[in-house]
Amino acid sequence: MGSVEAFRYLQSEATAWRRYLHENPELDYRLHKTARFVAEKLASFGIDHIETGIAETGIVALIHGKCGAGPTIGLRADMDALPILEQSDKNWSSKASGKMHACGHDGHMAMLLGAAKYLATTRNFKGSVALIFQPAEEDGLGGQRMVQAGIMDRFSIAKVFGLHNVPGMKVGSFGICHGPIMAALDEFDFIVKGKGGHAAKPHETIDPVVIAAQIIVGLQTLVSRNTNPMEALVISVTRFNAAQAYNVIPDQVEMAGSVRTLVPGLRDFAERQILAAARGIACGFGADVEFKYCRSTPVTVNHQKETDLAIKAARNLAGPASVDEKISPRMGSEDFAYMLEARPGAVIFLGNGSTASLHHPAYDFNDDALPYGIGYWATVVETVLPP
Ligand code: NI
Repeated sequence: MGSVEAFRYLQSEATAWRRYLHENPELDYRLHKTARFVAEKLASFGIDHIETGIAETGIVALIHGKCGAGPTIGLRADMDALPILEQSDKNWSSKASGKMHACGHDGHMAMLLGAAKYLATTRNFKGSVALIFQPAEEDGLGGQRMVQAGIMDRFSIAKVFGLHNVPGMKVGSFGICHGPIMAALDEFDFIVKGKGGHAAKPHETIDPVVIAAQIIVGLQTLVSRNTNPMEALVISVTRFNAAQAYNVIPDQVEMAGSVRTLVPGLRDFAERQILAAARGIACGFGADVEFKYCRSTPVTVNHQKETDLAIKAARNLAGPASVDEKISPRMGSEDFAYMLEARPGAVIFLGNGSTASLHHPAYDFNDDALPYGIGYWATVVETVLPP
């Protein structure tokens, strides 16, 4: 058994914070109420230094340990909600119609606040802790903006740790792996340019709908026939705009989608070959292709030594049987990747129990997980910066 019991005294208070944040979701960088709430709580704990307004609404707060000099480690929570209409009958469901905390960032904030309260009271570590509350994880690359705003250098952050809840994993369980743990995300846009006409006279047209359909199948062939089956590549075409009528073959079709990879070589391959395949197919039928490929979030890569430290902390907290240190990487992406490019660190997954999945209108963060997240943060600090 671990030491999670030592953090249960914070559960009811953290639950109240979490439910307040859940009731008041805000989007992307427009987190004014949220940031005010977080900063007021931090101030009430007697924290040494609080800086607000970083990357618009981000916050970094410092707590100095009482055990002498040492490095500073960063602990990161994301703050933004999603543009989803909540479907829940909970007393604390969203009061902002069309916005909801469907990814549990309300819980992530409450856990880091709980840890802040504990750490500001005990200070049983050397060096300092930087609490990083970042905006716009879902859409806007807030993690990248925080790094670009210079937080790593300005606050002398030496290592950085992240945490995300995962529905379907037991409450009190942790999952992590060394190396790539979440995928890179890229986005592409296509315009397939043919020649439109009457649907009854296809031979007088260059039908971009049929050509686009073959391109979609061709892209899946890149995955099944040109990619090592032991390496992960996901190509999803998610948008397809053609004619509006039953009897019109359009001049052009617009398509868009996303690409997810875990290794840099495959990312380069995807960017190159998606265009080559589309161009080849279109050319064969007399059509043209316009193509835009945009690299977004990089692969989230856990560093060796920091992953070992995260595993040690989770084991101490929850017991060795509750920590799976060899989970399979996930093909979702996470802008904490930018912080892990800037500094060594690791992100860990925390069980949210059998709730609805992330980004689902019936999702809710599980308050029973709060002491585990609070305890994990506190234990990471006392493990990485021992007195
Ligand atoms: Ni999230």
